[in-house]
Amino acid sequence: VTDRNVAGTPHLGRLTTSFARAGVTAEIVTIEPGEAAKSWRGIEELCERILALGIDRRTVIVALGGGVIGDLAGFAAAILLRGLDVVQIPTTLLAQVDSSVGGKTGINSPQGKNLIGAFHQPRRVLIDPTVLLDLPGRELRAGYAELVKHALIRDSGLFEWLEENGPACLGGDVERMTTAIARSVSVKVEIVSRDEHEISGERALLNFGHTFAHAFETQAGYSSRLLHGEAVALGMAAAYALSVRLGLCPGQEAGRARAHLRAAGLPNRPAELGLAFPPEATLAAMRKDKKVAGGQLVFVLTRGIGMAELCPGVPEAEVLALLAADA
Ligand SMILES: NC(=O)c1ccc[n+]([C@@H]2O[C@H](COP(=O)([O-])OP(=O)(O)OC[C@H]3O[C@@H](n4cnc5c(N)ncnc54)[C@H](O)[C@@H]3O)[C@@H](O)[C@H]2O)c1
Ligand SMILES: [Zn+2]
Repeated sequence: VTDRNVAGTPHLGRLTTSFARAGVTAEIVTIEPGEAAKSWRGIEELCERILALGIDRRTVIVALGGGVIGDLAGFAAAILLRGLDVVQIPTTLLAQVDSSVGGKTGINSPQGKNLIGAFHQPRRVLIDPTVLLDLPGRELRAGYAELVKHALIRDSGLFEWLEENGPACLGGDVERMTTAIARSVSVKVEIVSRDEHEISGERALLNFGHTFAHAFETQAGYSSRLLHGEAVALGMAAAYALSVRLGLCPGQEAGRARAHLRAAGLPNRPAELGLAFPPEATLAAMRKDKKVAGGQLVFVLTRGIGMAELCPGVPEAEVLALLAADA
């Protein structure tokens, strides 16, 4: 399963050639690119097209593409014939460091992002950083936001390394990018393996920046006006500012995190992207997000670089004041 953009790169041909050499029968299902595919209609169409190929329980679904393909094909694999094996071959940086790893699959609802889905671990995740060389720069930077996120949550050593080497990674240095991806993925793997189904709360740390991000994306209509990774950068910058505001985090640490995002060409505030979100509307979108526990907003905040923690019961007034000040 791939999308039309990825089908236009040499990667699909490389994959089908290698299947042919191995004597594996493969069918290609190509869908239109874009977040809109992650919908009831999108999953219905994909499942029907796959069923029409005459699959059986030994069929393996291969997701070749970005996070949209990984989430959608992964969800199809979770429900087709009550569960087929899936192999993730992520082709965006975001998908390589984040969505292909950890087993979350699913689609969006008009009520919010990723509200319908299943945990369905891939059999394999194959990450080839050279596929990033033909990724548009804006997509690369957006994925970098999720890469940095893992450093900001739990790996201050990686953050320091990125302060030094991040610009070279983004400039096409494949060797250093490979190191960055491997280190970032290990943070995620470690967290997910301790709390696969987000029960103890540890896995929820991976939502750092995401309560804000989803609220911004909802208002931007999940469109190309605001990529997911860009929304995550805004969300992490806001989470740092809120952490400082609540006296959790020293201003200097927040300054370092925000400066690194900026150095990577990522925004700190919506206005930098020409966007404006009314604080009340952002808060209303947050209340609808799935990270609301017992009617209380739950944020992932931080005590510094590499020190994220779950914070229930953040006063809404503080969130509103922050949103107004940091627009
Ligand atoms: N399951 C999870 O744990 C998880 C985690 C983070 C994000 N996500 C989801 O991931 C999605 C975003 O993923 P994304 O940013 O990869 O978006 P995407 O899949 O839409 O890919 C971005 C764009 O890049 C194109 N593309 C992909 N690979 C390419 C390549 N090698 N060369 C040229 N173009 C290429 C795609 O066609 C698309 O137009 C969101 O739906 C988000 O909710 C899921
Ligand atoms: Zn994300």
